[in-house]
Amino acid sequence: MKKTEFKRRRRNLLSELGDGIAIVTTNPHHHRNRDTQFPFRPDSDFYYLTGFAEPEAVAVLIPGREEGGFVLFCRPKDPLRETWDGRRAGVTGACENYGADQAFDIADLDIRMPELLKGSQRIHYSIGKQPEFDTRVMSWVNELRAQSRAGVQSPSEFITLDHLLHEHRLFKSAAELDAMRTGGKITAAAHVRAMQTCQPGMMEYQLEAEMQHEFIRNGGRWPAYNFIIGGGANSCILHYGENDQKLRSGDMVLIDAGVEYDYYASDITRTFPVNGRFTEQQRILYNLVLDSQYAAIAAVKPGNHWDQPHEAAQKVIIEGLLELGIIEGTLEQQLESGDFKRFFMHRTGHWLGMDVHDVGDYKIDDQWRQLEVGMVTTVEPGIYIAAGADGVDKKWWDIGIRIEDDAVVTHDGCEIITADVPKTIEEIEALMSS
Ligand code: GLY
Ligand code: MN
Ligand code: MN
Repeated sequence: MKKTEFKRRRRNLLSELGDGIAIVTTNPHHHRNRDTQFPFRPDSDFYYLTGFAEPEAVAVLIPGREEGGFVLFCRPKDPLRETWDGRRAGVTGACENYGADQAFDIADLDIRMPELLKGSQRIHYSIGKQPEFDTRVMSWVNELRAQSRAGVQSPSEFITLDHLLHEHRLFKSAAELDAMRTGGKITAAAHVRAMQTCQPGMMEYQLEAEMQHEFIRNGGRWPAYNFIIGGGANSCILHYGENDQKLRSGDMVLIDAGVEYDYYASDITRTFPVNGRFTEQQRILYNLVLDSQYAAIAAVKPGNHWDQPHEAAQKVIIEGLLELGIIEGTLEQQLESGDFKRFFMHRTGHWLGMDVHDVGDYKIDDQWRQLEVGMVTTVEPGIYIAAGADGVDKKWWDIGIRIEDDAVVTHDGCEIITADVPKTIEEIEALMSS
């Protein structure tokens, strides 16, 4: 992502802060076990505004400030620490390479912040995410309050930053869409590779290894979320994560996996037969889920509201399950009772962006919001029939199917940015037999 992209984002936010100030922290660095850390991932809001990926950093945005509105606190240069743990931008690098108007040592945060807060009416800050940091913010305000008799004006209002910032993040720029298209292509290639290499007798994690290989060799070092690779009964566990069972001929395997590319998530699910040939029951349920996904995708267009793709998918699935005798009654009765949710228990999509379940409101004033150009959503209906399902013939048991693609809302509908991985039965069987 170019520096100008981050600058534009800060300018947009600064123009909306009025006489407020924004404080944005990055993520803490998490300990894994003795002397070992989880890979560091910056907070998405923080990275969105700064492009700065080091831990221990705080961004402050102050509109109308003479010295410039972007102040970055970060770790100072330290040759010894850098020899052990890696390079640091330092305060000079923060200005030169990340566009900060001023940068300070993170160790000076408590000394510098009260001064920076002076004169602002409001603090925009995501309270509640890091309780220790919340306490520090309050202590800076209290310090200013104590100086009120000397005429010092302290902020009188706290307001979450989420509303303003997340509304920006919801609408993707051309540069963001480019990154997401690349992520979609890499993820699609990984799913194709899983289909091509899958054999009865393999372990679920061996498919994970094939996909990781494809992600990493293409520049996607980390998955956007933990791999879900479930064969047979495991395909009925929505967020299955053990991935440590043997794949058996006659079963299907459900793979929900996506790369994180340049800090943007991709999110694809495909379900296919371990041995490359769908059984009769698998074929019927698979085509039902696929039809429901086509119906949902057709409903992803400007002017439709957020829930319309979900409603479209639900209708197809309910009618299909009724016809198969897996559920009973009528469409209206099923919608009323929600009985079908035993087999389709999640929603059809979620916003997608820097976070896999991305930010942005789904309702405005208690009404589903309209879909608009530049929003990105997943489309992921499914049917899951676990063994023992009440009143369901055994022949349908242990079949879990989800088909998930990523859709960008365009002027006349949507663009599927994950289309490079097959999803019709004919395409999948052809790929797996080649
Ligand atoms: N991969 C999580 C989801 O599809 O929502
Ligand atoms: Mn998914
Ligand atoms: Mn998803």
